[in-house]
Amino acid sequence: MKLACVILAAGSGTRMNSNLPKVLHGLYNMPMLQYAMDAAAGLKPQKTVIVAGKNHQLLKDSVRPASGLTFAVQGMPRGTADALLCAAGKLQGFGGTTLVLNGDMPLITSGTLRRFLGLHKRHKNTLSAASFITDDAGSYGRVFRDKKGKAVRIIEALDAKEGERAIKEANSGIYAIEPAALPLLAKIGKNRIKGEYYITDLYEITGKQGLRTGIYPMGGEDEFMGINTMHDLLKAQEALRKRQVMFFVKKGVKFIDADSVFIHPYATIGRETLVYPNVYLDGKTKIGMRCVIYPNVRIIDSTVENNAQIKDSTLIEESVIGHRAQIGPFAHIRPGSSIGPSAKIGNFVEVKKSAIGKGTKAMHLSYIGDAAVGRDVNIGAGTITCNYNGFKKHRTVIEDNVFVGSGTQLVAPVRVKKGSYIGAGSTITKNVPPGSLALSRVKQKNIEGWVGKKTRIPGLTASDCKKTKKKR
Ligand code: UD1
Ligand code: CA
Repeated sequence: MKLACVILAAGSGTRMNSNLPKVLHGLYNMPMLQYAMDAAAGLKPQKTVIVAGKNHQLLKDSVRPASGLTFAVQGMPRGTADALLCAAGKLQGFGGTTLVLNGDMPLITSGTLRRFLGLHKRHKNTLSAASFITDDAGSYGRVFRDKKGKAVRIIEALDAKEGERAIKEANSGIYAIEPAALPLLAKIGKNRIKGEYYITDLYEITGKQGLRTGIYPMGGEDEFMGINTMHDLLKAQEALRKRQVMFFVKKGVKFIDADSVFIHPYATIGRETLVYPNVYLDGKTKIGMRCVIYPNVRIIDSTVENNAQIKDSTLIEESVIGHRAQIGPFAHIRPGSSIGPSAKIGNFVEVKKSAIGKGTKAMHLSYIGDAAVGRDVNIGAGTITCNYNGFKKHRTVIEDNVFVGSGTQLVAPVRVKKGSYIGAGSTITKNVPPGSLALSRVKQKNIEGWVGKKTRIPGLTASDCKKTKKKR
């Protein structure tokens, strides 16, 4: 099927009360325009035209680039018909079916669009529209049908008379249009109330030309929800959240509180994984099978392999967690890290751009940055890689089976070779040869009887301090 998708996204979005263009408001931080684009991309159209307004550059910069994607600029938001006319300029000579979507309709799915296009083709229509049934059509256009049930026209909410307002079939803003109907856009007049050119008028005009038209109810409001206000956005986000959770429930994921888990549309979770309350799986996060994600965890663009456990209040960003690894509680895994299988990263440990080998443990209060840590290394509490000298970042290498004593500072660049030990409290500035013990502490002095002779007295004077200095 020769298909082009047009996404209308140039509206001013005044009802949002926000300076950000409406279609860039996000659900889970992803702009609603991207959702519409993704649904369109699922149909593999040859071309996609986004109609953007003054902010076209911002829109371009905010969505993922895709092949066959172009932007048409609508200088002034003069209505949805005018917007389509702008796109038509980019489709000259294309000849196929044009699927029109609204950029403020993030919940629509490729599957529903495919079903709708199927109906359009089967009825051999020149113009089809998708509708949905709702108890209160609110600000949506109403589908007006004649006595035989044939859809005759779409009546905008502001133009609807008393009885028409009660119509429960709403226009979704999704249209399939054959080339013969596009020139008819020129026949649309300004709407008297809003002074805009309405795409909805194209339906009646096309019918009156004797061309085949039809409007098809495609389900309930959920997928077709149009976002005009912050309240709509909130409702859509909640609907999407529920949809995501239910999708994974069906796939065999267990949730303790389905109402407090957020799963980005690009995220996946394997079966038999258990997800505790207040979990946020963001971006292209991939959770394996039989994992446990404890409460208050946020994972962004990361992979968590099978049987791993992410304990309470942990943040993981753009990293890979190996199978059977345990992270947290209260850990921060920063971008570019990989935690090996069965490794343990514990309480208040921060890892940045580092590779941690299989079975290695850093259980308490450490910072590991720009480091390569081998297998079965033990990193004692309070170990710090001093990776930054104020100018440049340097790397630390800790080879397999090293034991790093508590309170160690590793001043990078530095390498601790296989099987070495570092005594607690050391500051390591030189490479450590394999199998050695590295110690860099001042020898301990015990001054017996010190307490009593020199107890600290509150209100010590400045001259007292001088004396103390001289004595030394
Ligand atoms: C529109 C439909 C309405 C339908 C509803 C579904 C019209 C006249 N009405 O109403 O029947 O029930 O969608 O959600 O089409 N846009 C432009 N340029 C413009 C104006 C709008 O690109 O000049 C874009 C907007 O960015 C938006 C889309 O078109 O993505 C729809 O515009 P909007 O103003 O939201 O239309 P609604 O009043 O919701
Ligand atoms: Ca809308």
